Amino acid sequence: MIRFEHVTKRYADGTTAVDDLSFEVAEGELVTLVGPSGCGKTTTMKMVNRLIEPTEGRIFVDGDDISAIDPVRLRRRIGYVIQQVGLFPHRTILENTATVPHLLGWKRGKGRERAAELLDLVGLDPSVYGDRYPEQLSGGQRQRVGVARALAADPPVLLMDEPFGAVDPVVRERLQNEFLKLQEQVRKTVLFVTHDIEEAVRLGDRIAVYGQGSIEQFDSPATVLGAPATPYVADFVGADRGLKRLSVTPIEEGDLDQPPVVHLDDSLARATERLRSEGARWAVVLDGQDNLHGWIPADGTGGAGAGDTVRAHARRMEAWLPVGAPLKQAFATMLQHDAGWIAVIDEESTGRFLGVLTPARLHEALRRSIDADAHAVPRAEVAVETVESVAR
Ligand SMILES: Nc1ncnc2c1ncn2[C@@H]1O[C@H](COP(=O)(O)OP(=O)(O)O)[C@@H](O)[C@H]1O
Ligand SMILES: [Mg+2]
Repeated sequence: MIRFEHVTKRYADGTTAVDDLSFEVAEGELVTLVGPSGCGKTTTMKMVNRLIEPTEGRIFVDGDDISAIDPVRLRRRIGYVIQQVGLFPHRTILENTATVPHLLGWKRGKGRERAAELLDLVGLDPSVYGDRYPEQLSGGQRQRVGVARALAADPPVLLMDEPFGAVDPVVRERLQNEFLKLQEQVRKTVLFVTHDIEEAVRLGDRIAVYGQGSIEQFDSPATVLGAPATPYVADFVGADRGLKRLSVTPIEEGDLDQPPVVHLDDSLARATERLRSEGARWAVVLDGQDNLHGWIPADGTGGAGAGDTVRAHARRMEAWLPVGAPLKQAFATMLQHDAGWIAVIDEESTGRFLGVLTPARLHEALRRSIDADAHAVPRAEVAVETVESVAR
């Protein structure tokens, strides 16, 4: 959807901001450009909507060489969100959001309808906020309006330059989560600039880690964290990259242990006898559909009547997660509930029990995913292949 072919940008004073850059962003993909200040991220982004012209090389959007497209028309196909949102102070939130549809000559009613839809989508009730003015909104709310406005004309491509950089960390995390949900619905092709590796990892389908004017590594978040391509990248992602990696590695079914299982209507006496004979200290309790119900200790069922079933003594399960949840969430859940294991179910809606994750298995899962990437295709080959496929 977006393709850079050997793009270089030299400014008039001789600064080479971007040096022979080649990469490709697939349709519907969210790529984060991350790197320290001054490494050429904004320059890269502004070349896509022709706010800056490359010195050398070519850029394609949806197969078209953009140097042949009128910049104004090009920009209407590309949403743009920046840190200083740039809302018009004397126009209402609804009018601000409808700016591009208005420029595109949409009927006023249709533009406003679309704007209201978009405000709703970014979590701002149009009946509450639509008639307010920008100064009557918080910083986080203004950023949401910026996103809504960029999406109003339904452009296939979205450029975002440190859009959440100016809000406090708590609001920023909320905006990031909202944006991820939004992206799931709208599936735009997104280039997202940030200097924050945490943000890059959280949002990106892939990350481009910038050195000075060029990309040092272009990979999935898990790979960048698990197998940094160069010492520079390793240094940039930080010594705690193992910890960061927890947040991008999902729980897989193969990671789980299979503890003893009993059912709600089993006889309690028989169940506890079985657990003792197996030397197990507890069992997971399932209902008739094999959905997770809770757990039961092998002892601690004092006061049980002769005919009791497991149901009367089962305890609630506090610590459980759906498969696919990040290992970091599993770790946090264990800590929060002071639990030595957590139950894993197939999905929240059905609740079918799959197994349990223990700290030892969590560690193995992390180890294995790091090893898998480290032993993947050697980096040099990947680089050559990327350049060739772009040159083709
Ligand atoms: N208009 C300009 N003229 C000269 N140099 C510029 C101009 N804009 C940016 N630069 C320089 O180009 C480099 C990359 O800048 P930029 O793309 O803004 O980096 P980033 O967004 O990663 O912080 C920096 O060294 C910056 O000083
Ligand atoms: Mg910048």
